[in-house]
Amino acid sequence: MTPVGAAERRRRAGHDGAVVWITGLSGAGKTTLAQALERALFDRGCGVFVLDGDKVRHGLCADLGFSLPERSENVRRIGEVARLYYEAGQIAIVSVISPLRADRARARALIPAPHFIEVHCDCPLAVCEARDPKGLYRKARAGLLPEFTGITSPYEAPEAPDVLLDSAAASVEQEVGRLMAELQRRGIVADSIH
Ligand SMILES: Nc1ncnc2c1ncn2[C@@H]1O[C@H](COP(=O)(O)OP(=O)(O)OP(=O)(O)O)[C@@H](O)[C@H]1O
Ligand SMILES: [Mg+2]
Repeated sequence: MTPVGAAERRRRAGHDGAVVWITGLSGAGKTTLAQALERALFDRGCGVFVLDGDKVRHGLCADLGFSLPERSENVRRIGEVARLYYEAGQIAIVSVISPLRADRARARALIPAPHFIEVHCDCPLAVCEARDPKGLYRKARAGLLPEFTGITSPYEAPEAPDVLLDSAAASVEQEVGRLMAELQRRGIVADSIH
């Protein structure tokens, strides 16, 4: 009896494992994009799951707050869970602010290239604040949310993301198209529906 290997998993699934790591400010569109990409990949028959910052904070990371060390620990745990998905041959889509470069680099280091794709869901702070989908910016400006990314806590934008998206200019469909093309270019999913 031999352990189930990556090649066997790939043959059965028809695609490779991967981690699509979406970073960006609150309101930039990470969750929106992650869910749309999940739908597109699922409809192609892929094993895919979203690891979203909000969801994780209700369970796996419910003990953590929003100080920088706690954010680092939050991102470390998500990176480790994403690694397990990768090893299971799944496509993990991570949507979490992950404000610090060093934390994202640590998550990348867990996954062999080219299976880790860092996506910067870029959007000007003013646009995120105008969208304010969860009313968080309003609360942060009122002083009710200390350590809010982009206002009272830093955001270190990726210097060289694998994919740079401008969510103030592109549609969600265009963004999904870009990411799907990148997954195909890297040989993670096939060019055509299998
Ligand atoms: N091109 C786009 N891509 C993604 N979202 C967009 C785009 N254009 C407009 N939006 C809107 O911007 C908002 C983004 O909210 P979303 O919850 O996805 O942000 P988020 O990055 O996950 O924030 P948080 O870090 O607080 O979870 C949604 O209301 C979405 O409909
Ligand atoms: Mg979100």
